[in-house]
Amino acid sequence: MKGIILSGGTGTRLYPLTKVTSKQLLPVYNRPMIMYPLDTLLKAGINEILIIVSPEHAEDYGKLLGDGGEFGCRIVYKVQDKPEGLAQAFILGQEFIGNDSVCMILGDNIFEDDFSGVIKNFKSGGQVFAKAVTDPERFGVVKFNDKMQAVKIEEKPKEFLSNFAITGLYIYDNRVAEVAKQVKPSARGELEITELHNWYLTRGELKVDLVKGEWVDAGTFESLFHAGELMRRKATG
Ligand code: G1P
Repeated sequence: MKGIILSGGTGTRLYPLTKVTSKQLLPVYNRPMIMYPLDTLLKAGINEILIIVSPEHAEDYGKLLGDGGEFGCRIVYKVQDKPEGLAQAFILGQEFIGNDSVCMILGDNIFEDDFSGVIKNFKSGGQVFAKAVTDPERFGVVKFNDKMQAVKIEEKPKEFLSNFAITGLYIYDNRVAEVAKQVKPSARGELEITELHNWYLTRGELKVDLVKGEWVDAGTFESLFHAGELMRRKATG
């Protein structure tokens, strides 16, 4: 299983914090944000990692994480020229993925859960993770039936669909890069990851599990602050 950390984007929601640096390099308590998703991949046993970065900050990521040796993994980098959607990461990463499956995590997503079991047992299809939240309209949202099977997934639904947000950790088999190439840009001009979930869902090949521990998408002032508090609590006991 290969790993991808998507750390591109312009972080406009956090302006002016992101005027001179990348969102995923901002401090979350005592470490740059990206080190938390990096930990999640390492903890899950993934040791070949592609970090997708924006052109302005590529050098800073190299300075922080180098070739991964310090962390016992191999890290390579790829520039995403424009933030054209999460699904684009699989196209940019196709060569890196090679014949393997892939686990992508967003550089601003912080998880408490240990995914090593699911990753070891993953065979084919897609696997994503949901969490009940109070602000589902910010996210991709999944509706479950009474057997907790996913029946519908929508990106930032305007009408209430459910409280379950799809979190930013995605496991896909090798077909994902080719599927991503078929996706057309959405109204906001992005290749939406939700389209990939739906490609697997309509074929009965998408598994949606619940995240058990805390999960934070640290992309807003409030959630960034909350992530810092949470990590401080965990570090200081
Ligand atoms: C992205 C995805 C969304 C997902 C979220 C998780 O949203 O498009 O489906 O729920 O990450 O953090 P974005 O942060 O790009 O608005």
